Amino acid sequence: MDLFEYQARDMFEKHGVPVLAAEVVTEASDAGPAAERVGADSGGVVVVKAQVKVGGRGKAGGVKLAKSADEAVAAAEQILGMDIKGHTVGAVMIAQGAKIAEEYYFSLLLDRTNRSLLAMCSKEGGMDIETLAEERPEALARVPVDANTGIDDAAARRIAEEAGFEAGDVDALAPVLIRLWDVYKNEDATLVEVNPLVKTEDGTILALDGKVTLDGNADFRHEDHAALEDAASADPLEAKAKGLGLNYVKLDGNVGIIGNGAGLVMSTLDVVAYAGEDHTGGKAKPANFLDIGGGASAEVMSNGLDVILGDDQVKSVFVNVFGGITACDAVANGIVAALKILGDEATKPLVVRLDGNNVEEGRAILAEAAHPLVTIEATMDGAARKAAELAAG
Ligand SMILES: Nc1ncnc2c1ncn2[C@@H]1O[C@H](COP(=O)(O)OP(=O)(O)O)[C@@H](O)[C@H]1O
Ligand SMILES: [Mg+2]
Repeated sequence: MDLFEYQARDMFEKHGVPVLAAEVVTEASDAGPAAERVGADSGGVVVVKAQVKVGGRGKAGGVKLAKSADEAVAAAEQILGMDIKGHTVGAVMIAQGAKIAEEYYFSLLLDRTNRSLLAMCSKEGGMDIETLAEERPEALARVPVDANTGIDDAAARRIAEEAGFEAGDVDALAPVLIRLWDVYKNEDATLVEVNPLVKTEDGTILALDGKVTLDGNADFRHEDHAALEDAASADPLEAKAKGLGLNYVKLDGNVGIIGNGAGLVMSTLDVVAYAGEDHTGGKAKPANFLDIGGGASAEVMSNGLDVILGDDQVKSVFVNVFGGITACDAVANGIVAALKILGDEATKPLVVRLDGNNVEEGRAILAEAAHPLVTIEATMDGAARKAAELAAG
């Protein structure tokens, strides 16, 4: 889960990373009083910042300086509702204005290729870091971080030194990098990025912009993370699936897909996409990813079907199951029971391909039930083609 800047800012504050006072508003009229409170210590100077989960807000006009409460209201009026790279701005953060002397870059992330954590640091922050990495890679220090020891004082100093900072700046930066490590570790993040990390005119180090990605697999030990979710912009079907404990991702096509095992579901998406191209001239495409996992019980199957049938775009459903520990007969019973549970709500044709453990018994159960919506296909390719043709209709 990616956080909004203001959520990252609050998380930084909680772990002792130096940030500036800020408030979030969704109505331009609230920006005035917020600016007065926030800017009281900075001569009334504040920055009005679009809260969207995408970078480059500054360049897009989503970050504006305001020197009075009235200017803050005017800036908020301009920014609220703005479209930034396909994201509509629904809230702005009113932050105290910093007197910036220098802008740096720092990030801490999971380096999957090297099976390590990685700190990246540069004296040249503020700009698009991908451009810097490409054009002047020598200006971006990359320092592996041991997950067991993390960033202690020695590691923090090494990172700052490798980025080319002088002794005085290394002294000032080290404690901040240690605090950012605390955020990364204690919140179970996979990314903590600060761009810019600034030095102000009086030499203070501040995190002026933060990007944090949290590891959803660790949600169980962070009760407070659920509240960070952006329920307003979540896809309603994805939200429903999440509530049912299903591993579902909405896509843009018309062939609903259910499978057991993430790998099988991924290849099912490919096979349906190809079948759609080859047999329907591109009119049929996968509508979703849904992995019902190992135990394909009737309840899980009916929950899965319920979510998929709730997608108006879906015209047919492909159930692709490879029986392993959960054998095909159990899955077939699950499908039959699920269709009973759904009753009149099951309205779209189902193409079922079963293979693996107890396949004969499974197919026999489906054949005997002879549900008018169900077609049994022997192969994955054949089933994909059938489902695509039904969807293209
Ligand atoms: N609180 C602030 N005070 C002064 N300048 C700021 C403040 N926040 C951001 N800026 C300036 O705006 C630029 C862009 O803001 P930033 O938060 O990094 O947004 P983005 O990365 O989406 O463009 C920063 O590089 C910095 O120069
Ligand atoms: Mg930034």
